[in-house]
Amino acid sequence: MPQFNDTELTAAVIQSFEEAPDPRAKFLLQELVKSLHDYVRRTDLTFAEWEYAIDFLTRTGHKCTDIRQEFILLSDVLGVSMLVDAVNHRDRDGATETTVLGPFYVGEHKVTPDGTDISAALPGERLYVQARVTDLDGKPVAGAPVDVWHADDDGFYDSQKASYATQGPSSRARFITGDDGRFHFRTILPCSYPIPTDGPVGEMILQTRRHPMRPAHVHFLVNAPGYQPLITHVFMDGDKYLDSDVVFGVKDELVAKIEKRTDAAMPDGKPAAAPWHLMSYEFRMKPGEGSAPKPMMAKASERA
Ligand code: BEZ
Ligand code: FE
Repeated sequence: MPQFNDTELTAAVIQSFEEAPDPRAKFLLQELVKSLHDYVRRTDLTFAEWEYAIDFLTRTGHKCTDIRQEFILLSDVLGVSMLVDAVNHRDRDGATETTVLGPFYVGEHKVTPDGTDISAALPGERLYVQARVTDLDGKPVAGAPVDVWHADDDGFYDSQKASYATQGPSSRARFITGDDGRFHFRTILPCSYPIPTDGPVGEMILQTRRHPMRPAHVHFLVNAPGYQPLITHVFMDGDKYLDSDVVFGVKDELVAKIEKRTDAAMPDGKPAAAPWHLMSYEFRMKPGEGSAPKPMMAKASERA
């Protein structure tokens, strides 16, 4: 009957996966065991702490539904999502930087005519977005679908509100780039907002004296054939949470100066009723393969 001291135990568990038929699964599981055992040894984890961790993970699982993914939120606030993003995008070669998809992407958006006001029904300061999609040489990428989405003036996404089921999307659309790689839309200025704090992840954030805020941003997902899908945000310069994003998603080149304008017309010539803001951004695509991500709220069976 084998008896193990704590180091021998780690070796035995690693050895127990030796016959795993999938070499990548075997490698991932053996490395996971090494890291977990090391954590227990380094911290001298007590029974009470281990039970607390099991209870925390159980509550995290119970909080998940078809439209809420508390485990991804946990991965986000622990920096794991951004680390997975980083190791998969090591060489950008001048392509636009990537960041987290976030839980509020709902899958392919409805194609919307260029220039549309995607927040027409919402109060807030008006924003005109003019953007261009190019390859690494600056040549326009035409016909590329670009999904955009952002939070409203109160910091909520349409899909977080009960009205989503009856009224459909708001501050969310798909634009197709023109022959010059450009697309434009009107919307409201998004604001900084807290990640959901009514679950175990939010509790952890508040109990550990972290703040739950994300700096104001607009999400973009550019998915052009022949290029790697680009999942990113454009952040509003000057936001007070840029240096302390709760999910560690900010990168310098993704922060854009938003110009305050008082011209009587917006760039498309249509009248502006009040002072407005202008966001200009150029997305550079990296050649490659890849399919668009599945929404975070999709069921595991649909994500496979
Ligand atoms: C978001 O930007 O929508 C988001 C990203 C990570 C966690 C929560 C929200
Ligand atoms: Fe967001």
